[in-house]
Amino acid sequence: MGSRDVSRAVEVLCAGGLVAFPTETVYGLGADAANAEAVSRIFTAKGRPADHPLIVHIPRTESLTQWAVDVPDAAWLLARRFWPGPLTLILRRHPTVLDLVTGSLETVGIRVPAHPLALDLLERFGGGVAAPSANRFGAVSPTTAGHVREGLGDTVDFLLNGGPCAVGVESTIVDVAGDRPTILRPGGVTRENLEQALGCFVPVAATSRTRAPGQHPSHYAPRARVLLVEADDVVTEARRLQAKGRRVGVLLPPARARPDTSGIGHVVISVPESLEEYARQLYDILRELDRRGCEIIVASLPAEEGAGLAIADRLRRAAGPVVQS
Ligand code: TXA
Ligand code: MG
Repeated sequence: MGSRDVSRAVEVLCAGGLVAFPTETVYGLGADAANAEAVSRIFTAKGRPADHPLIVHIPRTESLTQWAVDVPDAAWLLARRFWPGPLTLILRRHPTVLDLVTGSLETVGIRVPAHPLALDLLERFGGGVAAPSANRFGAVSPTTAGHVREGLGDTVDFLLNGGPCAVGVESTIVDVAGDRPTILRPGGVTRENLEQALGCFVPVAATSRTRAPGQHPSHYAPRARVLLVEADDVVTEARRLQAKGRRVGVLLPPARARPDTSGIGHVVISVPESLEEYARQLYDILRELDRRGCEIIVASLPAEEGAGLAIADRLRRAAGPVVQS
């Protein structure tokens, strides 16, 4: 599936084509960030609304000033501490950055990814690569080259295969353009890591947690509906739904005493005890439940610490507005 030919990937980028490439978080769908026509092809391939801003991927921290202005000390500190790595910084845009990339905002999202193939690609390409996750808009992000092919097919001009992604959920987005650093999207760098580096409390923006029902399309969503319940109620709820004739998938939370899951005839997946491992597997698990035809996925939220914050965020988004079963 795909190849590891970075030289060819660079040629495709230079020619204005789309390259799907591995990062440590998820696969990205990349185009030359300075080529408006190339960037516009990303929106077409994803079926993504044109006002959604993209993240610009750069090869090293020093390139930051080509894309952003008024970079505050906190941003330099975070960049030096966490790049290359799963952190996106929102900064005031450089005047030359395309409106198509920023969604016409006054800010731009930037990161240096940690995957060796991504770094090689960016270093050889030399410019910035605008890239959202390489999935159709609203679908689960791809963590393998196979997922990219499944979702985007031939709309991708070149697929760079770097194996499965090590982090498994998207980068943490931190807004450093405002008065104080704020997490816009929890991800691969934990809130605790950020607070330790900055030496202060780092809030999570309210909009990333609460979603007014019906206002947004369901993001990060599998086809199956996700139902969130208390950890102790997962098995009971699954049995109840199954008794009503629904095909149920179960994300069984880690527990010291394994609950009795007999009588749940459908798909039961035990969630890894380690939150990092759970994050790595999360999207693959959701895809697996879809593949096995589940109509409803019954799950509970992990403790919202460490990688648990990002997992809980994605499960909430996948659950979307609560509707009665
Ligand atoms: O891990 C990741 O971040 C992956 C890999 C490929 O780097 N990329 C990714 O991109 O998740 P995407 O487009 O699926 O999500 C980017 C998020 C969007 O929710 C977008 O709204 C937000 O970043 N974003 C980008 N620029 C922004 C800006 N200037 N202000 C606020 N949010 C921004
Ligand atoms: Mg995405």
